[in-house]
Parts: sequence; structure tokens; C-alpha cells
Amino acid sequence: VALDIGSHVPAPRLPFAAAAVDEVLAPFGRSRMLPAAAYWSPDVLTWERRHLFDGGWVCAGRLDLADEPGAQRAVDLGGTGALVVRGADGSVRTFANICRHRGHELLACGASVTRGVIQCPYHAWSYELDGSLRIAPRFEGVANFDQAELGLVELRSRVWGGWLFVNVDGGAHAFDAHLGALAPIAEPYECERLVVGATHRYELAANWKLACENYHECYHCPLIHPELCRVSDPRSGENVDWDGASVVGGAMTLSPGAVTMSIDGSSPLDPFRLLDDAQRRRVIYVGLLPNLLLSLHPDYVMSHRLVPVAPDRTAVECQWLFAPEMVERPGFDPSFAVDFWDLTNRQDWAAVESVQRAVTSPAYVPGLLATAEDAVHHFVTWVASAYRTG
Ligand code: FES
Ligand SMILES: [Fe+2]
Repeated sequence: VALDIGSHVPAPRLPFAAAAVDEVLAPFGRSRMLPAAAYWSPDVLTWERRHLFDGGWVCAGRLDLADEPGAQRAVDLGGTGALVVRGADGSVRTFANICRHRGHELLACGASVTRGVIQCPYHAWSYELDGSLRIAPRFEGVANFDQAELGLVELRSRVWGGWLFVNVDGGAHAFDAHLGALAPIAEPYECERLVVGATHRYELAANWKLACENYHECYHCPLIHPELCRVSDPRSGENVDWDGASVVGGAMTLSPGAVTMSIDGSSPLDPFRLLDDAQRRRVIYVGLLPNLLLSLHPDYVMSHRLVPVAPDRTAVECQWLFAPEMVERPGFDPSFAVDFWDLTNRQDWAAVESVQRAVTSPAYVPGLLATAEDAVHHFVTWVASAYRTG
């Protein structure tokens, strides 16, 4: 069932003066960071959930749904919850995880199940795997009950690189335009064939945007990441101006003697099979807005998927992906990559949680950006432009 999603919901309001957003959108070198309320206000998060998450292409994680028909998984998209279902024909559909009776979640967020129907645990309405309503117990004689009109709401979705992306409100621009220049850059990493070697879940006491801003600069690396600086010069590489697409980031270079990002710069794995010599010497760090951060290494891919939980809390799913032929090697051990980035992640989380503690203070004033923080400028420009235009 396709509904005119959101048309009945009043637009949330942002608590900013236009001048506060003007300062963010000033040219690089004269701009300031987002107004403090962007990091703590429930109204701002409500607005972002509606416009940036439900209104954009949100990453729902790897599409690693079981192959059997009836496999179902509930995923939190940051705004709306989704139910991902493999149908009788093997195809995958994504529905709003909302029962058409009175709105109970069809499956608890994060849960998986395999069964031939989708059944609501509240009053047992059940749906076929294609979303159509199958049975609504004891609704005989209810005058405005129209079974054909009460199927699950199907959401616009797309698989790219093995990840599932969902546009809840159906109004985002075409997915290929959303990916922009990222598609050809990611192509030699063949993300669609990679397998997850490890997953870590973190919950940060910080706004989701602080995690993005931190990811997009290495100005902080000399002080908080001594291990990282030994294998990659924090002044190396450069950011790319992706020209308005929902993509932010650039690349950094590996130090001489390092073949990947690990504690000692070594790797037990071969590089990805399609990379040229230049690609084997760098790591690409890119954000696909609003919620996926991709780190493309010569021999593994790391992803961070962000889900806002509250204005000052963010769930982060961090995954490490490897070529299948490497995972199948006897003794495969992803710890060289996992241990390095788990340490680095925790160093970063401590920094952003410190910033979060400051933003509610009347003494906090939005800060300035160094030349090396140009990708942060791209990110906050994207956010502030959305605040401005809706
Ligand atoms: S809310 Fe699902 S059956 Fe009532
Ligand atoms: Fe960092």
C-alpha cells in the first residue's frame, strides 16, 4: 500500500534565528559551527528525523537477510522503524514497521524471525509477505473496514554495495544522484561481495552530528590518536568538494612501511583484487549523509552506521568487511583491523562526549574551523542548508 506519507503531520519547527544559520553558511574561513541547540534540542532532532532521516536515503545496514522466504528483520532507521522481509519470490521488500490496526511494531526493533506471515503481536492482525492484509480477527461487521486498503505501507528502498537504503517519505531525489561521485570511487572495493568479519555496537552520550563532524577531520589526530598517527600522517591527503551531493570526505595516505590501518601498519590479508598501486597507498574516508560513514582501506572496509536515539545519544554500529576469499583462509583473524579501530573509536567517542557536555552551557559559542577542517565545513553546510530550505 502506498500512502501520502507525512502529509497529515504538522511540520516540526526549528528553534533558530536565521542569522545563526547564516553564520554556518558563510564562506569557508569565515563560517561558524551550528548553533548550540542543534546538538541538544528535542525540536531539532524531531525536525532532523522528519527531513534528514525520513526525508533522505537512510542506511539500514547490510542486507544480510536470510535466504528463506519469510525471513524478517526490524531495523531502526533513526526516524521510522522498518521491517525488511524476504517474499515468497525471493525478493526483498521494506515496510514501515507499523501495524495498520493501531500502530504496534510488527517486530521488536533489532529482532529477526522467519515465518510465512507477518503477524502483529498486539491483536494478531496478520499480513502476507507482500504486505497485504491476510486476517484481522473479529472485524466482521465493522463498517469502515476495507481489507484491500489495509496492507502494510511499503517504503522506497534500494540496495547498493550490499547495504540497504530506505527513503521513508518517498520524496528524496533519485538514489543515483544521492550517491553522486561516490559510486565510481567505491567500485574497485566491490563492497557488494564483502562479508562482515566483525560488528561492534556503541552508544555515545553525544548528538549524532558531533560524531560526523569528528569523523570528517584529522586536525584532532596528533593529540588523541597517537597509534593512528604512526601509520598515517594526519596532514596527508585531501578532501574532495563533492559539489552538493550527499557525500562528504576525502582520502589520507598510509605512511611508508604501512600497508593498512592497524597498530603496526601490517596486514595478514591481500589487498582488494581490483585496486591499483595508488589505491593501495591510501584510505578513503567518506560520509554518505545522513548516517553512513565508510572507510575504504586497501584490504578491508569499515562502516559506521549512526542512529540518533535522543538529542544527546547516538547508537553506532561499526562493521568490518572483508573479501570472502580472505575470510575463508584458514586462521582468518580480523583483530588487526578491529582492535586498531576499536581503540580509535573509543578515543573519538571520549572527545565528542566532552563536546556534548559543553553545548548546553550559556558560555558555549559556536566555534571556528581550521583549514584542515574543510570536510567539517562541507558537512555543516549540508545540514544548515537543509535547516534553511527544509
Ligand atoms: S495494533 Fe496490530 S493488531 Fe492491533
Ligand atoms: Fe578521530
